[in-house]
Amino acid sequence: MTITADQAAAKATDRRPVLTVTDLTVVYETEQPVTAVRSASLQLGRGEILGLAGESGCGKTTLAYAINRLHQPPARIAGGSVVFHDRDGGDIDLLALQNEELRQFRWSQLSMVFQGAMNSLNPVRTIGYQLDDTLKAHDSKMSKARRRERSAEVLTRVGVDPVRLRSYPHELSGGMRQRVMIAMAMLLQPQIMIMDEPTTALDVVVQREILREIVRLRDELDFAVVFITHDLPLLLEIADRIAVMYRGEIVELDTAEQVHKGAQHPYTRKLLGSFPSLTGERSDFVRMGRTEEGAA
Ligand SMILES: Nc1ncnc2c1ncn2[C@@H]1O[C@H](COP(=O)(O)OP(=O)(O)O)[C@@H](O)[C@H]1O
Ligand SMILES: [Mg+2]
Repeated sequence: MTITADQAAAKATDRRPVLTVTDLTVVYETEQPVTAVRSASLQLGRGEILGLAGESGCGKTTLAYAINRLHQPPARIAGGSVVFHDRDGGDIDLLALQNEELRQFRWSQLSMVFQGAMNSLNPVRTIGYQLDDTLKAHDSKMSKARRRERSAEVLTRVGVDPVRLRSYPHELSGGMRQRVMIAMAMLLQPQIMIMDEPTTALDVVVQREILREIVRLRDELDFAVVFITHDLPLLLEIADRIAVMYRGEIVELDTAEQVHKGAQHPYTRKLLGSFPSLTGERSDFVRMGRTEEGAA
């Protein structure tokens, strides 16, 4: 039932991928060990938006953390590989990176917007301080003026006025805080951004604005996105390809178009079937936000 590594490769996009996950297995070593991710394989194309869908508890967050090596005990990677394909043609085995290499790699090549991230900003520091801190940590040679400039730049990109650099998190709306977290993830121009339910806590209007923003930024800056949500219809609108997880396994991996037309796995059909409004064409939203490279 699981998508095999070969199938995942065959279903990859034409462009050279930026990330290859092969047979990744993650176990929570609790009294009753739980295999939360079972032999998951996928490839992420450069500049692609890959949706990862599935009901709560199916292993989406566990997979995202493991890819980024952010998993903590009792979680343990029990098998498989995660390889990052650099622009210059080199491959980096993420599971082999040591502490300092890993720290440098994170945020600069692969960044993550965590589930509930908008509540993870430091309440006693300004937005500007927190952006500056991240820049400093990764590039000690960058001048203060340049750091300020870059911080203002990323805020503008996500639609937040740079005057907000002086604001504290509580002075911003939930939507704005979430935009700040996306700005933070973009700060070092990573090639991959993993977003775990980035808009779930927001109302529908704000959610759509932010999604539109993410698609537009991807078109402009050409980073790849793994967009995680339990909301499959949402992915049909923004994703190039969609992976569906069910009980720790990737059971479906195909273009959004194909998934919309005829999902292979009964569980995907069930997920789609629970949204009766999903018939006919995909919305204009997708077509507007998409480059000719996209699947639409
Ligand atoms: N710290 C933990 N200890 C033990 N089991 C866990 C832990 N975190 C998650 N799990 C289990 O792993 C599975 C996947 O969880 P998770 O990755 O959070 O799913 P999702 O993000 O899809 O909602 C769940 O069945 C959950 O019970
Ligand atoms: Mg989750």
